[in-house]
Amino acid sequence: MILPVIMAGGTGSRLWPLSRDLMPKQFLKLDGQQTMLQATVARLAGIDAVAPLVICNEEHRFIAAEQLRQISQLDHNIILEPVGRNTAPAIALAAMTAIKKGTDPLLLVLAADHVITNTAAFRAAVEQAALFATEDNLVTFGIVASAPETGYGYIKRGNARGVGFAVAQFVEKPNQTIASQYIQSGEYYWNSGMFMFKASVYLTELKQHRPDIFAACERAMAEVDPDLDFIRVNKDAFLACPDDSIDYAVMEKTASAIVVPLDAGWNDVGAWSSLWDISAKDAHGNVHQGDVLSSNSHNNYIFAETSLVATVGLENTVVIQTKDAVLVAARDKVQDVKAIVQQLKAAG
Ligand code: GDD
Ligand code: MG
Repeated sequence: MILPVIMAGGTGSRLWPLSRDLMPKQFLKLDGQQTMLQATVARLAGIDAVAPLVICNEEHRFIAAEQLRQISQLDHNIILEPVGRNTAPAIALAAMTAIKKGTDPLLLVLAADHVITNTAAFRAAVEQAALFATEDNLVTFGIVASAPETGYGYIKRGNARGVGFAVAQFVEKPNQTIASQYIQSGEYYWNSGMFMFKASVYLTELKQHRPDIFAACERAMAEVDPDLDFIRVNKDAFLACPDDSIDYAVMEKTASAIVVPLDAGWNDVGAWSSLWDISAKDAHGNVHQGDVLSSNSHNNYIFAETSLVATVGLENTVVIQTKDAVLVAARDKVQDVKAIVQQLKAAG
């Protein structure tokens, strides 16, 4: 049995000022008709799986439920986190929810912020991953690494295992110098941020490598507050949970990881530059959204929400205009938009 677990509790801060605390990017329509959460659910069509388990912040419970209803995904469960503690605890809560029901499904852990253009290739990779996961491996999906991006995890190929490879090394978000060495070696994949493993296998690994996170999640699940519509974990217990991602907490440490290559037009819409990458461009390499005029401008991503934006002689720049904030950034520096959001938070 495959149980899709959709992690939808991130803040999407690099897509500020469009992505906000109240409406992070997974709930936005960035590329097409559906929101990123809806597209993630739609992509499951054709995979032999039970109804998805969505895990998000309690602040967004009505947005998540409404977006699932809009695509007629009435059969679903939503776990609510009182606070974000990153993906290692989120996945633990999902795994514990399944185990509590007396089941031990293969969890297909998905991020809610990916674009995948070739769903048939995605489905085929999931089928392969299921075979490895059934044999108690932790499976990750590897994307051919083409540039020294520092926002990704890197996976070194080990011995061939059928259509996949043993993971020789997993390094989460290396610095630019190390990432460049990895790219030159040709031996590394990017971690797609999607995983597949048995619920019990993940919990065993987490307990071994991060007993503190495991114990905090167990306490948070011991007293799930009764609620007909949502699964609410115990707030105080979860507040005490350390913050860490699955990548650092488990994937860098496990000895049982397998990477299944994925060539499916994958893109993590992590920062504004990814939207430029995946969007259709005009003859000057510009992507314009909304009311935009430009003269002698090239390779820009310009988004105008509520007013006209005009550019003259502008190159390789991102301009995001919303009703109460404007971002102007060099296209190759947009990972650092996070720093602005941190400054805003610090200023209260
Ligand atoms: N429920 C929940 N709670 N979801 C969360 C939380 C949380 O506290 N934090 C993040 N998420 C969700 C995000 O909404 C997103 O869908 C997914 O988990 C991944 O989180 P990101 O914050 O976007 O991670 P990342 O992009 O920096 O890094 C991960 O993905 C990369 C590929 O996109 C890592 O797995 C990298 O190794 C990987 O390369
Ligand atoms: Mg991401």
